[in-house]
Formats: sequence, structure tokens, C-alpha cells
Amino acid sequence: MSQLSNFIIFANILLAISSNVTAKNDCVIKEFDQVNAILKRCTNIVVDSLVVPGGQQLLLRLTEGSTLAFRGTTKFGFAEWIGNLVVITGSNITVYGEKDSLLDGQGPLWWDGQGSWGNVTKPKFFRIKNTNNSIFYDINIKNCPMGCTQIEQSENVTLRNFKIDISEGDEGGGA
Ligand SMILES: *[C@@H]1O[C@H](CO)[C@@H](O)[C@H](O)[C@H]1NC(C)=O
Ligand SMILES: *[C@@H]1O[C@H](CO)[C@@H](O)[C@H](O)[C@H]1NC(C)=O
Ligand SMILES: *[C@@H]1O[C@H](CO)[C@@H](O)[C@H](O)[C@H]1NC(C)=O
Ligand SMILES: *[C@@H]1O[C@H](CO)[C@@H](O)[C@H](O)[C@H]1NC(C)=O
Repeated sequence: MSQLSNFIIFANILLAISSNVTAKNDCVIKEFDQVNAILKRCTNIVVDSLVVPGGQQLLLRLTEGSTLAFRGTTKFGFAEWIGNLVVITGSNITVYGEKDSLLDGQGPLWWDGQGSWGNVTKPKFFRIKNTNNSIFYDINIKNCPMGCTQIEQSENVTLRNFKIDISEGDEGGGA
């Protein structure tokens, strides 16, 4: 075999390996209206710098065994409602944040220092539901409008390096 064909075979193997770890372009969610179609089709998904419109829920109902990565900053627009802004469900799933990724709840748009007693209805943020045997890691959450994280009806769920930063609420009374 010539050296060139050796090289081509080697390059093809590398390509096959790298396409296993990186979501295909058509499995990258960049617009909110792509969410459902991509979840239906893909098991290796990237949420890339998504802006979720106010009053809408980012419902990520993942196929069993899926992997989902957050890339860049995922932002949530303002609306008065109870939330949750993000709901993740599915079994044997892996959900992680890429380096420097952030889920920004934009809490200051709601915060009035009154908690749930005031007259601004604030959405709860991140909820893991009906999720068995799964792992969430390197997730960075900032400025939840209210209630940062809930887990329910789930077994064997690991949260590793799950950071919640609401330090901006230290001034002005927070939620
Ligand atoms: C889910 O994980 C369990 C435990 O590791 C395994 O037995 C099962 O086969 C997995 N299911 C799928 C569909 O991957
Ligand atoms: C919120 O409640 C306060 C105190 O009851 C009241 O003065 C204020 O007008 C209310 N604001 C809105 C937007 O309803
Ligand atoms: C998770 O496990 C519990 C207990 O075995 C089971 O009742 C539930 O249906 C499972 N949930 C999912 C989404 O598979
Ligand atoms: C959780 O893990 C334990 C130990 O591996 C296993 O026996 C159990 O079936 C798991 N629960 C679910 C809902 O899969």
C-alpha cells in the first residue's frame, strides 16, 4: 500500500472518531424554534448561545442515552410566569457545559427584593425531572430569577461541578 493511501485511511479513522464526539451541525440548536425538531432527530446535541424568549420553556426531553452540551451563553428573556425556564428529562443522559458556558437567568430583570411575596411573578429556573442514571457536570448557572435548581422523580443522578452564582443579588436585595 502506498504511503498516501495509508494516510487517507488514517485520516478517515480520525474523522470517524472526531465526528463521534462532536455534534453534527444539524444537531446544534441556535434558535428556539429548532428545539423540538433537533431533539426528535439527534442524540448528540449542542445548545449554542441560545436565546429563549420570555415566557417560553426550554423543555429538553432527551432520548434515552443522549448527550447534550451547553455552549456559550444561554439567555432567558423576561416574562412574569412561574417557569421553569429549563426542564431536562430523559434517562441515561449526559448533560454538561463546555468551557466558559453559562446559563444566564437574567434574574435582575425580575428581582425586587420581595422573594415570592411581592407582586412580580418570577419563574423558577433549572429542573431535572424523570431522569434516572444520568450525570450533569460543569454546569454554570447565574442569576436565577427565583429557585435555582430542582430535582424530582429521578434516581441515580450525579451533579458534578454544578455552580450557581447569584452574587449579583447581594446588592439591591436579590430575588
Ligand atoms: C441505561 O443504563 C443502564 C445502567 O448503566 C444500562 O443497564 C442500560 O442498558 C442503559 N440503557 C440504555 C438504553 O442505554
Ligand atoms: C405591588 O404591590 C405594591 C404593594 O402592595 C403596590 O404598591 C404596587 O402598586 C404593586 N405594583 C404592581 C405593579 O402591581
Ligand atoms: C426511573 O426509575 C424509577 C424507579 O425504578 C421508575 O419508576 C421510573 O419510571 C424511571 N423513570 C424513567 C424516566 O425511566
Ligand atoms: C440506581 O443504581 C442502582 C445501583 O447501581 C441500581 O441498582 C438501580 O437499579 C438504579 N436505579 C434505577 C432507577 O435504574
